[in-house]
Amino acid sequence: MSETATAAGSGANATATFARKERTGAAADPARVSAIATDTLQALHEIIRKHELTYAEYDALKAWLIQVGADGEWPLFLDVFVEHVVEEVANADRRGAVGTIEGPYYVPGAPVIESGSAMPMRPDEKGTPLLFQGTVTDLDGTPVAGATVDLWHADDEGYYSQFAPGIPEWNLRAVVHTGADGRFAFHTMQPAPYQIPTDGSTGAFITAAGWHPWRPAHLHLKVSAPGKQLVTTQLYFDGGDYVTDDVAQAVKPELVLRPGPAADGTGNEVTYDFALDPA
Ligand code: DHB
Ligand code: FE
Repeated sequence: MSETATAAGSGANATATFARKERTGAAADPARVSAIATDTLQALHEIIRKHELTYAEYDALKAWLIQVGADGEWPLFLDVFVEHVVEEVANADRRGAVGTIEGPYYVPGAPVIESGSAMPMRPDEKGTPLLFQGTVTDLDGTPVAGATVDLWHADDEGYYSQFAPGIPEWNLRAVVHTGADGRFAFHTMQPAPYQIPTDGSTGAFITAAGWHPWRPAHLHLKVSAPGKQLVTTQLYFDGGDYVTDDVAQAVKPELVLRPGPAADGTGNEVTYDFALDPA
């Protein structure tokens, strides 16, 4: 491994990125806040009774909660262990493309590249080349021209640009707009599985529970068009490590790719289409 990503680095960066995120529409109604807070606290009280939590364990919990904040790891922790249920509830009525969690490593404003060209990458970017292509349509299958396909993913060592040291700013992050036929294509490098940083408080939690800290290799996408619902999703690779055992529980059967050898003989290619729900 050429660089060592530290939890302190990626955690703090994820917190800074979250602080810049535009956030609207949170509940302001005191009755709703009270109902959710009451149920949350009652669930916690029940767990304490059920497991007869000791004072030593209560103190360990307080110390750990303080440390997660100090490490800047709340975005990591919540996106791994909680976001998948928020996504399930938010997108329950969707009929088109299937979504999943966004995770903590999206950065808006990636360079716009020509469809069919290469993602920003290092001249010696490691890995298996991948041609990722498809068509954006509406629910009836009519191609959507001018749709935005925003792709970001980890490199062949499982690290994300802007969150691990030593990687160029927009490496393996790009936006493509679909043509008149609704088609898009990216040339990229297949990502590796992603390991939750084990040197921070989220890693300490996973180790203490005896779990593994891995997510399967994945592509992240946001696909949108005027008059359509934006879909945030991820795509996985059939047969890859952790596809059936994702620590973030974000894999869905519809999101598993089956790439084949590329027609031009370099690496793999795969086609995946997105049907967008009306806004
Ligand atoms: C986390 C990282 C990811 O790459 C992802 O897709 C989801 C969550 C995380 O570390 O929280
Ligand atoms: Fe990810």
